[in-house]
Amino acid sequence: MAPVIRISEIAQYEGQEVTLQGWVYNRTDKGKLVFLLIRDGYGYAQCVAFKGNLPADLFDKIMRLPQESSVIVRGSVRADRRAPGIPGGYELDVSDLQIVQAAAEDYPMALKEHGVDFALDHRHLWIRMPSQWAILRVRRTVMRAIRDWLDSHGFTHVDTPILTPAACEGTTTLFETPYFDEGMAYLTQSGQLYNEANIFAFGRVYCFGPTFRAEKSKTRRHLTEFWMVEPEIAFCDLEQLMEIEEQFVTYIVQTTLRECAAELKSLGRDTTLLERVSPPFPRISYDEALEMLAQIRAATEDPEQKELLAIEWGMDFGSPHETALTQRFEKPLFVYGYPTQVKAFYMEPWPGRPEVCKSADLLAPEGYGEIIGGSERISDYNLLLQRLHEHNLPLEAFKWYLDLRKYGSVPHAGFGLGVERTVSWLTGTQHIRETIAYPRTIKRVYP
Ligand code: 4AD
Ligand code: MG
Repeated sequence: MAPVIRISEIAQYEGQEVTLQGWVYNRTDKGKLVFLLIRDGYGYAQCVAFKGNLPADLFDKIMRLPQESSVIVRGSVRADRRAPGIPGGYELDVSDLQIVQAAAEDYPMALKEHGVDFALDHRHLWIRMPSQWAILRVRRTVMRAIRDWLDSHGFTHVDTPILTPAACEGTTTLFETPYFDEGMAYLTQSGQLYNEANIFAFGRVYCFGPTFRAEKSKTRRHLTEFWMVEPEIAFCDLEQLMEIEEQFVTYIVQTTLRECAAELKSLGRDTTLLERVSPPFPRISYDEALEMLAQIRAATEDPEQKELLAIEWGMDFGSPHETALTQRFEKPLFVYGYPTQVKAFYMEPWPGRPEVCKSADLLAPEGYGEIIGGSERISDYNLLLQRLHEHNLPLEAFKWYLDLRKYGSVPHAGFGLGVERTVSWLTGTQHIRETIAYPRTIKRVYP
């Protein structure tokens, strides 16, 4: 019996009879030959049906097989450098084919150009296409690399709640939902506050789950539902935090390069710069970044670009600023010491410079921008109380959080890495919506 194999492992079966279970992605007829590009969830492989090898009625059916028909194909594996597919380089000489279902002829995602809105409306079918499949395969590797690194570096995974009583990252992006007799509850913007409680029980922790922001910004970097991993570390300062981040990100990049070579190649991703990602990453202060932006702005002739790059001390960076900065560096770039006024309420002030906080963002190169936001946290009870007042946050909802500064407070720090932004960078995908199976944006909750 010919064993059922996965296309990702086809090279191991050269010269042997195997069975593939999958779907017809494409069909090309050449007289006595029909080329089927079969996908099985693990890859794409060319299967060649030769008229002389098959019963006439079967060959006839194969010649008329609609795209997306489900099939079980038997045949022998032959190496051929020109054979298309992912990984490619091998093809199957078909000796038998069973049609599980002949697909309806009106497949909406037929192989021709589709507008983005049309493709997004058919996301449930679009994910079958090689580019989307490859991006989501990289995503799954990134997610596993994240867990592997944290699990093997002393981090305890503790799940944090999705329904929460208060804001973590500013009140303007909260999704609210009525909560029985308790008033309003909010979909989590970040598990950080709970992580801060959890480090006092476990030392180093992380949460990893969906995160919600009612982002009014309609950019290619924003989703309303995205996945974030958030590590938090007791007895840790900003410098130590950045060292952890660069080790962590390097591991994610290297694992992806090693395990997803076929996917990245199929996407046409130039991996030259990714291969150079290794610690240490360059570090510049917010003040230095402003100087650099002023230079870049002075050097540009384009008035529109000049306008976009305008920035004054105290303002947060927008995408154009991040893009311009990262284009100057080959590796991911830390920008630390942001103005306190643009960051969240919980960040530790810079010693002797209260207008600056001990925060660091990590910006991905090649124009991809912020993938990590992190900081040292305020550990002093009175200062934290003062900040809650300044930000008009409801004290009752934060009573438990203040407790953490009463019972054994320690310096601590943590960060959040956005999965979709990271996958965009690694795969070279311009728009973040393609890096999650079912994107949620300000204009989309379907399918
Ligand atoms: O910088 P942010 O808002 O940081 C926090 O939420 C902290 N509480 C994390 C922490 O210290 N534990 O978000 C962290 C990262 C960003 O760098 C970005 O990668 C991603 O989350 N992110 C988004 N990704 C997609 N769509 C959005 N609307 C995002 N907002 C943030
Ligand atoms: Mg941020």
